[in-house]
Amino acid sequence: MSSIAVLGCMWGDEAKAKIVDVLGECADLVVRFQGGSNAGHTIYLNEDKYVFHSIPSGILYPETVCVIASGVVVDVFDLIEEITELEKKGISFKDRLLIDSRAALVLPLHKELDTANEDKSGKNKIGTTKRGIGPAYSDDRARTGLRLNDLYHKDYLKNRLQNLYQYHNQAITPKELTTLLNKLITAGQRLSQYVCQTDTYIRRRYLEGDQILFEGAQGTLLDITYGTYPYVTSSNTIAGGIATGAGIPLRMVDKVIGVYKAYCTRVGDGPFPTELHGKIGDRIRIQGNEFGATTGRPRRCGWFDAVAARYSAEINGVDRLAVTLLDVLTGLEEVKICTAYWTGNQRSEDYPADAFSLAAVQPEYLTMKGWDKDITACRKYKQLPKNAKEYLEAVADLLAFPIEIISVGRERIQTILMN
Ligand code: IMO
Ligand code: MG
Repeated sequence: MSSIAVLGCMWGDEAKAKIVDVLGECADLVVRFQGGSNAGHTIYLNEDKYVFHSIPSGILYPETVCVIASGVVVDVFDLIEEITELEKKGISFKDRLLIDSRAALVLPLHKELDTANEDKSGKNKIGTTKRGIGPAYSDDRARTGLRLNDLYHKDYLKNRLQNLYQYHNQAITPKELTTLLNKLITAGQRLSQYVCQTDTYIRRRYLEGDQILFEGAQGTLLDITYGTYPYVTSSNTIAGGIATGAGIPLRMVDKVIGVYKAYCTRVGDGPFPTELHGKIGDRIRIQGNEFGATTGRPRRCGWFDAVAARYSAEINGVDRLAVTLLDVLTGLEEVKICTAYWTGNQRSEDYPADAFSLAAVQPEYLTMKGWDKDITACRKYKQLPKNAKEYLEAVADLLAFPIEIISVGRERIQTILMN
């Protein structure tokens, strides 16, 4: 029996889905355990593009069962749309999707609140995806929220909905309430075939010897507790979140793969020490197609930050690294890695705990020679140019963890597996 967690270790968009897809071939079960439709996981398969928001990307393997565990917040309308779109592409969900009955619901009100909060916050905004994630998790913690299971108890649901609008001081007419109630009940019926207690299922399958893959969303530096608060998402994105989000004992996570881009990106606001504002940043954005899969926003781009990366590797207890989008750096004369932070004349190799301190640091860089040779056809480590290998070795040395997977292009086969 064994399980692997694939976790984004920076600010999200590390190409986790590509790594899940590469490893998914051996997985019996792929489990999402946190986040919601704020995630945008893109997979290219034989030139076809698939974008997943709530469905685990393992759904592309016909034998794999996909689980949306209780730690995920679910917008039932978005989810049905996602299922319908994928069904149109020929993907079958029959007996292949399980959604936990305790998953907290993202309601239209949550999206409205998220958007309104952002719009009125001016320069203090977080830069959220406006998918209602923060308000939905807040309501769940405040115990004012609704859960998937509530869709099967009409009177209770009506009562809770009314209370929720009152709690937020939002008006809803009886007619609007009835319409929403009916839409939710219809959505509940459409999804009922998938709804169950997923924690029991995951634990049993683990003990039966099945291969389980936990698919992280967002990234460590967006973790609600350990990221640069308040510029974070509202869930625990770190490995520790798997136990609570999926309802499994800690010891059922056997291996953690930390996914890092060969450079850094951030979408939304918040400090970003290695951000590149000039031509090189623009070049990386275009070359790497760094535009949000969920919101279409241009992503901020910067050099690889080994200080932040080591922090995330340690906090997740990663066993192995996956380095993605290495091909995007091809053609740059020089490539840089941030090795330390300076605050005034104080040097530190530790990632600070708060956004104020992070915003004040100046990066110290290790500058290395770039490479020109197209690497997208490389399938073995030894085929990579010398400078690319030296760059990867510097990353592995600075993080003190070995690299297991290198991605050199967006397709499944454009991957180098070490050892
Ligand atoms: P994947 O899974 C990158 C960012 C938003 C914003 C902050 C809070 O594709 O890597 P939220 O809507 O979650 O309340 O927004 O988190 N964010 C992401 N950034 N990738 C993601 O997901 C993200 N999901 C949320 O841009 O800064
Ligand atoms: Mg994404």
